[in-house]
Amino acid sequence: MSTALIILAAGKGTRMSSDLPKVLHPIAQAPMLAHAMMTGRALEPDHTIVVAGHEAEAVRSAVEDIDEHATVVLQTEQLGTAHAVDQARAVLKDYDGDVVVLYGDTPFLQADTIERMIAARTSADLVILGFEAADPARYGRLLMDGDSLERIVEFKDASDEEREITFCNSGLLACDAKLLFDLISKVGNANASSEYYLTDVVELARAEGRRVTAVACDESETLGVNSRADLARADAVFQSRARAELLELGVTLMAPETVYLSLDTIIGRDTVIEPNVVFGPGVTVESGALIRAFSHLEGCHVSRGAKVGPYARLRLGAELAENTHVGNFVEIKNAEIAEGAKVNHLSYVGDASVGKKTNIGAGTITCNYDGIMKHHTEIGANAFIGSNTLLVAPVKVGDDAMTASGAVITKDVEDGALAIARAPQVSKPGRARKLMDLLRAKKKKRDEDAS
Ligand code: UD1
Ligand code: CA
Repeated sequence: MSTALIILAAGKGTRMSSDLPKVLHPIAQAPMLAHAMMTGRALEPDHTIVVAGHEAEAVRSAVEDIDEHATVVLQTEQLGTAHAVDQARAVLKDYDGDVVVLYGDTPFLQADTIERMIAARTSADLVILGFEAADPARYGRLLMDGDSLERIVEFKDASDEEREITFCNSGLLACDAKLLFDLISKVGNANASSEYYLTDVVELARAEGRRVTAVACDESETLGVNSRADLARADAVFQSRARAELLELGVTLMAPETVYLSLDTIIGRDTVIEPNVVFGPGVTVESGALIRAFSHLEGCHVSRGAKVGPYARLRLGAELAENTHVGNFVEIKNAEIAEGAKVNHLSYVGDASVGKKTNIGAGTITCNYDGIMKHHTEIGANAFIGSNTLLVAPVKVGDDAMTASGAVITKDVEDGALAIARAPQVSKPGRARKLMDLLRAKKKKRDEDAS
């Protein structure tokens, strides 16, 4: 069965008190909208159409980043959910298949729930996703007659008796595309909000003798985000789900509740994550790695058997090959660390490549930025960079080369060479004791003068 997704995202989200459109507020470091789009992607839809309105250009560019095959259509005035879906009519005019309508601000919907809705289509023309609400509040109420859904009544338009119903409308539906657009053309706006309600398609379908049913899901899947407090709760819900999934996959989390994950975090089995680790966007950690406490990773790739941290920072473009070590207070940015290489203490390696089995001593800095431009540092294999070396880029250090501790390397070091670039040491016999005596005498005189 072919499917087209329509994701509604035109609303302003007033209660977020924000210049950013609601659907672009992040949950797990990805726009809320990306969560709905990723769930929808599991259905391998033929079309993904996002209806944008408020701050549409910002939404459009986010959609392009998330899925280059998605289409954005504009709803210039927010006249209601049926009017929003209607904006996709032109894109789907020759489309013959099912439409699934999702909301951009409902990030927790599970793919298998949508699959159940599609499965229910074999026995119904229109399928609505409902849920038993602990507090039905202002949700639309589903008026069932056995398995048949007769009508959805919006809270504002409901009688006291209808308000007693706890089976509520999530807003999601599945329907044949042609039928849905036919029904939508008949929706009017004579209701308490003067809006074109998508929910009216139920009654219109029933009037034509169509079969309409509701599939139920857990309320947690339909959690919408309307405020910053909801956003924080949504992130917490995401985190506990994502941690549970990692544990299930065979990743060890020593203190799961302290590990922060992003929507796209990938971690291989038998990797161990110590407490208080943050995974920003774009991180892949292969199997059997160790990420020690208080490390911060984003936009990086950590290979099998690598050890990172404690207190390491891997930034965009950090590429750690197998069995590499990146230790405490080390920052790596846009740099490849080849197999078996070690950067164990207090170093910054940026815009660089480090060859196999090379050892970078404590306190090494790649001076990659001249104030205007960034430059590259290339370090060969089996090299030894002495502690506190400054590598002033652009510069190359060859295979099997060494730099002396405290060196300031401004010129290329050839293969196998030892580069010493520091002032030679001078020792003055007995001078330290003389100097100390002199200073003590000075202090004594000052103390006497002051009293
Ligand atoms: C809607 C349902 C209600 C259901 C509830 C679940 C209708 C008429 N009501 O009510 O039965 O219980 O969702 O959360 O459908 N949107 C647009 N353009 C518009 C209007 C809305 O894109 O013109 C988008 C919003 O951005 C949002 C979604 O559609 O993502 C739902 O709109 P909202 O105004 O929140 O609907 P509710 O009143 O909550
Ligand atoms: Ca809503």
